[in-house]
Amino acid sequence: MPRKVNCGIDYDDGYDDDFDDYDYGYDVEENVKEPSLQDTIKRGVWRCSVCTYDNDDTMSSCDICGILRSPSVSNGTYDEKRTVHGICKVSGVSIMAKSLFASRPHQMSKKEVDSQQQNDDFVVKENNNFHMLGNNQGQFHEFHKAYSSPTHYRINIAPFKFDVPSPDDLVSNGLHSSAQHSKGKDKHGGIIFSKNLEINPSSGFKASDKSSASMAKGRVEDSDGRSVSNNLCSSGQSSSSLMPKERTDMVEDGSSLTHGGEGYLTSNLKNMTLGAKSGNSKDIKANSRAQYKPEKWMFPEKAEGSLTQLNLAIVGHVDSGKSTLSGRLLHLLGRISQKEMHKYEKESKLQGKGSFAYAWALDESAEERERGVTMTVAVTYLDSKRYHVVVLDSPGHKDFVPNMITGATPADAAILVIDASIGSFEAGMDGTKGQTREHAQLIRSFGVDQIIVAVNKMDAVEYSKDRFDLIKSQLGTFLRSCDFKDSSVTWIPLSAVENQNLVVAPSDVRLSWYHGPYLLDAIDSFQPSSRDFSKPLLMPICDVIKSSQGQVSACGKLEAGAVRSGSKVLVMPSADIATVRSLERDSQTCSIARAGDNVAINLHGIDGNHVIAGGVLCHPDFPVAFARHLELKVLVLDGATPILMGSQLEFYAHHAKEAARVARISLLLDSKTGKVTKKAPRCIVAKQSAVIELVLQESICIEMFSKCKALGRVFLRTLGRTVAVGVVTRIVEELV
Ligand code: GTP
Ligand code: MG
Repeated sequence: MPRKVNCGIDYDDGYDDDFDDYDYGYDVEENVKEPSLQDTIKRGVWRCSVCTYDNDDTMSSCDICGILRSPSVSNGTYDEKRTVHGICKVSGVSIMAKSLFASRPHQMSKKEVDSQQQNDDFVVKENNNFHMLGNNQGQFHEFHKAYSSPTHYRINIAPFKFDVPSPDDLVSNGLHSSAQHSKGKDKHGGIIFSKNLEINPSSGFKASDKSSASMAKGRVEDSDGRSVSNNLCSSGQSSSSLMPKERTDMVEDGSSLTHGGEGYLTSNLKNMTLGAKSGNSKDIKANSRAQYKPEKWMFPEKAEGSLTQLNLAIVGHVDSGKSTLSGRLLHLLGRISQKEMHKYEKESKLQGKGSFAYAWALDESAEERERGVTMTVAVTYLDSKRYHVVVLDSPGHKDFVPNMITGATPADAAILVIDASIGSFEAGMDGTKGQTREHAQLIRSFGVDQIIVAVNKMDAVEYSKDRFDLIKSQLGTFLRSCDFKDSSVTWIPLSAVENQNLVVAPSDVRLSWYHGPYLLDAIDSFQPSSRDFSKPLLMPICDVIKSSQGQVSACGKLEAGAVRSGSKVLVMPSADIATVRSLERDSQTCSIARAGDNVAINLHGIDGNHVIAGGVLCHPDFPVAFARHLELKVLVLDGATPILMGSQLEFYAHHAKEAARVARISLLLDSKTGKVTKKAPRCIVAKQSAVIELVLQESICIEMFSKCKALGRVFLRTLGRTVAVGVVTRIVEELV
């Protein structure tokens, strides 16, 4: 949910209301200014290996594409600016989230960089086991060479380029500049990377790094393993014990899966979101959670006429029309005024991007508008008859999948947008270059099981029933393999540009063969998601807003429980207790927020630097786990490179991301029965599921999937591609 879009303000911008006469042709204006280039790369920056953007040295992940930075190239000394008592200030979560929940659109400063210049000077051999992510071939190289075949993903680290030109780019041939504009600098610091980290797969895990040691500094009060909750409850202080502790729910053979736990992964993602309970686990926290007694105010009252919130991700291949569709819906439902729309039309036309007028409502940054490509998830809302819909308009370009993951993960339902044009649907379905499959797999592993497939741009194929049926048949087979039930998938032919089948039944006679619901109708047909009102508070922090007066707000979606003004919350991982000063939903003050709500929670009684994106707000008596050594059940995705012991991956869970290393491949599982087929296999390849152990470079807030689905789902990526999805089955070693 990185960036909040403000619309609906009917201000006078001086334009006439003649937008109805607007010509949707691809006009090109010659007076578009070429950006000037800067030849030198500034000191104190690091260049992203994927998009080549020069990020400030304090950034832990790329401000543009979200890819994680390489290990620190500093001299390894403790960096006060980046940490608070050794705790990372940022998790590396979607840095572009700065404007989310802010009451004004985010203003980003600009700096121009020379995209041609290649700079790999941040690839420094460090005395640690982690290599640079996104550009690392290290030990993997030989292995990949052996496995390279047309059916396997190729290691191809190309500098950032938009390889799918938009229609306007095509007509404005020559206008396109290769210069990459930069996004504004984020003031968050970067992650301190561990030095001297020792990972011993056979013996488990041993961290001797200074940063980890310093992490506990100032917070370790007891050495007897007293839990955070005990400590906080008894003393009411904000500090706590952070001594490592083995979780009691481990099983002896190194896996929690061998005792008949239900919910094994299958090759088609079955059970990924359903089961995954450790059969014999004796979990102390789970027991204590069961004892949690929610108060009456935590449950919503059935207020007459109130709308249920629905977090709706708009996903799909690049240029399929996601933003145009979202913008069109907002306009049709009155969330974008005539004057605003007129402004978008005029301005986009001036930039030679006339066909992107509706998309401009969502694509707010100059970079997005110039390229005609969404880079970060835009958040806005609209009201249907039944739902208050929080729209999460995701980027489709492959370089921005990390942003899609961190931004759209709270989705309850999704619209998968397909470009029906000849060749475009096929491009989206391409196993290596297309994003249709990857997005579908990702949203399924977010836990989304109900989707609308919006077959867009039907105008480009004359509203052909044959084309629609072909798409339905080919994509339907794939969606079934992702464990989407036929009954949970609604197929709608539509045209965002020609306004067919969006908020009313189609008027074009060429669509007379279609008798199903129109889009808004189908949105209203989604089943409301069940919410964990009765559980202790859990809110993964998506973004942090700090005011100049020193106020701090944590933003995100409540996954469980409820808060209200005056509530005490435990802020993890700093383990500080803060008090809720006020709450904001859709830029409006509210008194209570409950599971499912997207809110900004204004906190007091806490140092703002102790509230970080990727952290979690919890009930003081029920802290979330903070760990770096995890056991996962994973499914390696079709076409992905094999995973072997020592593989270095990007790890994503809720709004946190971290560099990770495969410390052990414990078990290979039969994809149909879930039974163990092999112990300690050398590697896992596409479509196989397995139990692995992962050691993260830094600890993150995490939970077992069986305890909290939203905090226990993980995604593993490497080299710009999602290679596996999975769930946390065990926390091997935890800092509590
Ligand atoms: P990314 O966010 O970058 O992945 O792109 P997107 O899926 O948001 O696509 P966007 O809305 O930016 O639209 C891409 C292009 O498709 C624009 O030129 C739109 O005008 C065009 N487009 C969108 N919807 C339709 C449609 O219904 N018919 C036709 N013919 N073109 C459309
Ligand atoms: Mg878009």
